[in-house]
Amino acid sequence: MRVIPDITTCRDAVRAAQQAGNRVGLVPTMGALHDGHLSLVRAARAGCDMTAVTIFVNPTQFGPGEDLASYPRTLEKDLELCEQAGVDLVFTPEVETMYPGGTYTTVHVEKLTEGLCGAYRPRHFDGVTTVVAKLFQILPADAAYFGEKDYQQLVVIKQMVRDLNIPIEIVGCPTVRESDGLALSSRNAYLSSDERQQALSLSRALMAAREQVASGECDAMALTARIRRTIEDAGPAKIDYVAVVDPEDLTLLTEIERDARICLAVRIGNCRLIDNIGVSR
Ligand code: PAF
Repeated sequence: MRVIPDITTCRDAVRAAQQAGNRVGLVPTMGALHDGHLSLVRAARAGCDMTAVTIFVNPTQFGPGEDLASYPRTLEKDLELCEQAGVDLVFTPEVETMYPGGTYTTVHVEKLTEGLCGAYRPRHFDGVTTVVAKLFQILPADAAYFGEKDYQQLVVIKQMVRDLNIPIEIVGCPTVRESDGLALSSRNAYLSSDERQQALSLSRALMAAREQVASGECDAMALTARIRRTIEDAGPAKIDYVAVVDPEDLTLLTEIERDARICLAVRIGNCRLIDNIGVSR
């Protein structure tokens, strides 16, 4: 496995692999790797000949007062996990490598970034799309793998790639959960054991909603009210949003006619958790 901190060497390695006839899969991450990330690596390895991972805690996607300074950084352990998972190349740039002298150019995806997390984390998605567009220039892979756990991010990146004619296939992969339902996230490390117990209410509420939709409930207000109650009954939490949206364009739905996505963001203690589930009638 090659660990490469500089842009030119990294781009050359990807191009050389492609010129030799290999399909290259890319898994962008901010490190603190867990089985959710490793599931993306497995998907990349299954679909490609060479797998590249990027590890970069991207400052531009954190707002003022957010957890940039405390975000878990576990590079040595991450590299071991990548090696064990059969990754071929890891790009580990410094902030100065990615943003020499600051940031002057921003990639902004309209509309899709306005609601859900975009309403609570202004400019967050600009930071995500800017860094992902840069990573796609540095590692011009054939396919890139993103988790459905960050569902809005996945939809936004698909749109960016379409709009900017970036020739990289975006592959969404299912959320990986602990056996008790908690969606894996690097930020789960912030939860105390009581908060972790309380956080189980998120997946419990979403899974109950999926059952309700399958049994014929189609009223978004009724569903979100029940989800909110389940979360509030579990303990003190600040619910940023619970929303039923169209899975393609993220517009709010009042009624579920076919497929929908139920998305939520909740603050428990110091931790902001997001989760979502696909539902269909
Ligand atoms: O999902 C993440 O970990 C990040 O938002 C990403 C896509 C690596 C961009 O920094």
